[in-house]
Amino acid sequence: LSLRALIARQRPGYALEQPFYTSEQIFTVEQRTWLARQWFLVAHSSEVSEDGSFIVRGLLGESLLIVRDKGGTLRGFYNVCRHRGSRICDRDGRSTSLVCPYHAWSYSLDGSLRAAQSLPDGVEKSALALRTVSLAEVGGLILVSLTGEPGTLESIRRELEPGLSFHGIPEARIAARRSYPTRGNWKLVLENFIECYHCFPAHAEYCRVMKHVDAVARDSPAAADTWHKRVETWRDEQAARNSPLAISSVTLKLATCSAGRAPIGGGYQTQSEDGRPVAPLMGGLSEFDGGVSTFRCEPFLFLTALNDHAVMFQFSPISAEHTDVTICWLVNRTAREDQVDVERMTWLWDITTTQDKALIERNAAGVCSRSYRPGPYSKLESLPARFVSRYLQELSSLVEASHERQLVV
Ligand code: FES
Ligand SMILES: [Fe+2]
Repeated sequence: LSLRALIARQRPGYALEQPFYTSEQIFTVEQRTWLARQWFLVAHSSEVSEDGSFIVRGLLGESLLIVRDKGGTLRGFYNVCRHRGSRICDRDGRSTSLVCPYHAWSYSLDGSLRAAQSLPDGVEKSALALRTVSLAEVGGLILVSLTGEPGTLESIRRELEPGLSFHGIPEARIAARRSYPTRGNWKLVLENFIECYHCFPAHAEYCRVMKHVDAVARDSPAAADTWHKRVETWRDEQAARNSPLAISSVTLKLATCSAGRAPIGGGYQTQSEDGRPVAPLMGGLSEFDGGVSTFRCEPFLFLTALNDHAVMFQFSPISAEHTDVTICWLVNRTAREDQVDVERMTWLWDITTTQDKALIERNAAGVCSRSYRPGPYSKLESLPARFVSRYLQELSSLVEASHERQLVV
């Protein structure tokens, strides 16, 4: 079966067939085409804050160098020496130049080749600068794409930047970071992340904290109506007036790239077990209003901002059957250690992500079975259904435009 024929026979409204979740060949095609075009949230600005600081990050099988140059501009390079291709840096650091350990070629922080011993006459150093990747800083988030079109970045900026600034994300620091390496295809991870059909059976703690679950995890017009009224009351009586974010009770029809606010509900001030604060207020908030702001640009940019902290989600496809999931908890840069209760701050998303990791790994195990056949998405899974249809459509045109269409899977 050709990849083109496999794509064409996927049934709308149904999960994908097995090879999309298990085939290394399809993963390789995705890496070269569809995944390479996406913008990935790879770091927070505070990780590369000073002139000359640099970080080394993996993305889609590549090692990348993200460097803050002398003028404060952030730059992205492949971590590949222009001499014979060695890796240049192994770990994060700070320096005035980047020196390859193999034969000591040295590069300026803007990527240009500064010194290389005994080059033959006629070899132009200016033609040997480090190769760049597309990189942008949007409201304190560092986004990278291997082949992304700058046009797509403009909508991300427009939709997300005002709200990220309002929440003080550019001035934040990372208070905690945990990783959840997950045995499952990146699409299973993403589908899980964007639906709440599984919330009642799987996430007791999340359902207890987040009162909107009643409206999104049940197909009940009455529950949706009750939630809508609660959001309106919150908007009129409690919500911060100076926020640029739209307040919305709708979550099942969220735009692919969007930001918005709603209350946590139940008098909770933040996403802690008892709803009490875990850190000092962030950004433009002058008092707790109990709101939760969500920032999303499917498929790889998700951030949730509470009044006193924010939760940044990173997804990194490693192979057909492995995905790295990393969560960073952000607080105000000026918050002292003794003002931040890391245990209570990480409680909800650590529990929830550990539960999701187990769900995804069981999903991945079942999808490998010879008996697996794609099942229908429910009415409460409109977001994964939309994602899968967009993925197939875009993958199809990329495959048609390349030699991959004949690939036999
Ligand atoms: S490979 Fe880097 S200096 Fe030779
Ligand atoms: Fe979940």
